[in-house]
Amino acid sequence: MSDKPGTTVEFTLNNERRSVPAGSTLLEACRAAGVPVPTLCFLDGMTPANACRICVVEVEGARALAPACSRQVEAGMVVRTESERVALARRLVMEFLASSVDLTCAPEAAAYARQFGADPERYARSGAPPETVAQPVKVDNDLYVRDLSRCILCYRCVDACGEEAQNTFAIAVAGRGFDARIATEFDHSLPDSACVFCGNCIGVCPTGALMFKSEHDLRREGTWDEARQTHTETICPYCGVGCALTLHVQENRIVKVSSPRDHSVTQGHLCIKGRFGWQFVQDPPKPSE
Ligand code: SF4
Ligand code: SF4
Ligand code: FES
Repeated sequence: MSDKPGTTVEFTLNNERRSVPAGSTLLEACRAAGVPVPTLCFLDGMTPANACRICVVEVEGARALAPACSRQVEAGMVVRTESERVALARRLVMEFLASSVDLTCAPEAAAYARQFGADPERYARSGAPPETVAQPVKVDNDLYVRDLSRCILCYRCVDACGEEAQNTFAIAVAGRGFDARIATEFDHSLPDSACVFCGNCIGVCPTGALMFKSEHDLRREGTWDEARQTHTETICPYCGVGCALTLHVQENRIVKVSSPRDHSVTQGHLCIKGRFGWQFVQDPPKPSE
């Protein structure tokens, strides 16, 4: 039975009585109380995927830790966000991730690894890189690349490609265990898959596993420099929808395009024209073409 609108529930958070609107998640309640809770797979505006478990908190009387991003507050709950069990769980999550995934383009995850005292070396195989790291970057088109050695399997891209935004369903998780990976159907290259190159998967990827080819090329050259980049807000000129664009510009060249997640028109999502249709601005066709 759903709660009546306007009703509240009372619970205890870190020894303090709190009241929150019925239906609030533990994460929403913690945020309202100013209590930090780490998140990786969760993204505001998307349905929680419950994939990473970094957000777990302790609920008194419960056998298992609860994912704060999806678990709703219940009347009388007693919740702790900083207990020993919680600290151990968060440390282990980051040790497993950092020992199997390249987090160098995932500043938030890398910061959590430091914050929770993760020691990924405990799981390394005698100095060899873990299997999930040792795989080549997939470069099969001019628009974006897939570097699955950076993938934490957060499911954000799968959901953005699916029901949360694009409804194209071009990608899913294939394989199990260390072999689990984001893949197209039958592992086809992106141009041969159902992908429509909206780039909404890139927009939600927290680790750089999905990356504009322009960014990938500059990083490989060693010239990618966010400190020198400017952000220009504009409106996509291609159609009447009026999507908000943020142009990331380095040395007077657009290097990638995003859209604000809190924008009422796009919620951060674009189509191929807004996301990638900017090359003509800086590389106009030659008269003979
Ligand atoms: S670019 Fe768009 S259609 Fe292609 S995989 Fe990403 S979200 Fe799906
Ligand atoms: S590619 Fe990025 S968005 Fe997709 S599951 Fe991996 S880390 Fe998450
Ligand atoms: S942020 Fe809650 S499970 Fe990932």
